[in-house]
Amino acid sequence: MDFDPHALSAREDPYPLLRELRQKHPIFYSETRDMWVVSPYAGVRAVLRDAETFASGRGTVPTGFTSQKPMLITQDPPYHDHLRRAVRSTFAPRRVQTLEAFIRGVTRELLDAIDPKEESDLVSVFSDPLPVAVVTDLLGIGFEDRDEFKRHADVIIHAAANTSEGVDEAQQWIYDYVEGVLPEREKNPGEDLVSSLLHPADEETKLTPDELLGFCSLVLIAATETTTNGLCNAVYLLHAHPELRRQLVADPSRMPGAVEEFLRLESPVHGLSRVTTRDVEFMGEKIEEGSRIHMLFAAANRDEEIFSEPDTIRPERSPNPHLAFGLGVHFCLGSSLARLELRIALQELLARFPNYDLVRERWERLESDAARGFARLPIRPDPR
Ligand code: HEM
Repeated sequence: MDFDPHALSAREDPYPLLRELRQKHPIFYSETRDMWVVSPYAGVRAVLRDAETFASGRGTVPTGFTSQKPMLITQDPPYHDHLRRAVRSTFAPRRVQTLEAFIRGVTRELLDAIDPKEESDLVSVFSDPLPVAVVTDLLGIGFEDRDEFKRHADVIIHAAANTSEGVDEAQQWIYDYVEGVLPEREKNPGEDLVSSLLHPADEETKLTPDELLGFCSLVLIAATETTTNGLCNAVYLLHAHPELRRQLVADPSRMPGAVEEFLRLESPVHGLSRVTTRDVEFMGEKIEEGSRIHMLFAAANRDEEIFSEPDTIRPERSPNPHLAFGLGVHFCLGSSLARLELRIALQELLARFPNYDLVRERWERLESDAARGFARLPIRPDPR
């Protein structure tokens, strides 16, 4: 029995294979990747809930990538709790709601720039620039520096999942940039996130300069490609389900429930891992301290034990306890923002181009240990 998460992301339909794994090999050891792979919902949830036994400090992707500066996502309690306390209000739902008008404005600008009669790549004209615009605005990064930022963030994202070429330089570029703006924000704070982290209401939660750099670069990485992939995956699902698309065009208020289903069925983060801090007996296997455990969110999110008709999109599904944003101490800090961006982007896209078509022969899927999405998604916005 062997299996490689990298190859999984490139498959058009990996779900029959994931079902087979879940049912026949709920936990198994992958020789090639030297890790235990867990696919049922209950198993994945148990790993996520026990951060003491299943730690993040040695990286959360199979390659074991960690950053130079302390990043929330690869820290363990109790230090993780301290960092999380310091940043927890930055993406709180109420604060995020104030971004609605800005997100809608950027979305419409991007849609205005698309020629309805021409084929274009949705990734480069829409689903990539939108989250980058939102997150760089939040961080207070100059508009003119956006592209440079994105280029460096991409190197880190791809390094996290695949190779580590160029990653040190890219990390350093981001650190230098953020470091460069700190003195000014320290003196003249604005409305941006860096300013608010430099001037916390509670001095005890103030981050050190290294922690602040680590957090800003994590946000750049965590908030961009994930949302890009979430958007592309949703556009792909709406292409595959024209009847649902018609219903959502007629009644956009059903979009929030549909977004949850898109995240569940085509999870933008298809899997992440942990490393055991002690010998443990888990799901009937004796696992040694220091072993990597890889959780397949994409399999857990279609587990028939939890979700009735798991392969069907049901916007009214309730509850919908999918694990696309993780669970437990590392639960996605930006989930409210991601949900808002996806809802607005999809509502606006469907209002503008309800009859869009995707060009199956030319789309390219990403290949990654952690991310599921598209490198290219050619769209004909108005094919009539
Ligand atoms: C559809 C889009 C997104 C998906 C699918 C997603 C998914 C995830 C997942 C699965 C985790 C858990 C990691 C773990 O358990 O190791 C996570 C953590 C995180 N996410 Fe997201 N994310 C998305 C968007 C965002 C956005 C927009 C932001 C920021 C504005 C963000 C910031 C973070 C941060 C800071 C963490 C680390 C939290 C911690 O370790 O305490 N994410 N995300």
